[in-house]
Amino acid sequence: LPEDNVTLHFVNQDGVRTTTSVTEGVSLLNVVINKKIDISGFGACDGTLACSTCHLIFEENIFEKMDSLADEEVDMLDLAYGLTKTSRLGCQVCVRKWMDGMTVRVPRDEKMASTRTQ
Ligand code: FES
Repeated sequence: LPEDNVTLHFVNQDGVRTTTSVTEGVSLLNVVINKKIDISGFGACDGTLACSTCHLIFEENIFEKMDSLADEEVDMLDLAYGLTKTSRLGCQVCVRKWMDGMTVRVPRDEKMASTRTQ
């Protein structure tokens, strides 16, 4: 069996960080599901490119190394809440060994953020 040898960090909508180790080749959507990462409403369409709830924000140096986006992904991403220059849809990105140690995050929950700053 392949080893879980790629370590990933996820930061959820509340700023809570989760670290997990996974096998190369799985999609980030499946990582969130299989490892039960606590991200609210993630992956509503099961990876069929029919939602944007699997939106993840990547570190710039990682984003630059990834394959370019298909048109379908760009169209869906346009609808994503909190879109950034380094955003991707998690169901379209597969884990690679070189991603070891990266941190991906989802947009902060605006309601929570504004409550805190008041
Ligand atoms: Fe719906 Fe990725 S899970 S587009």
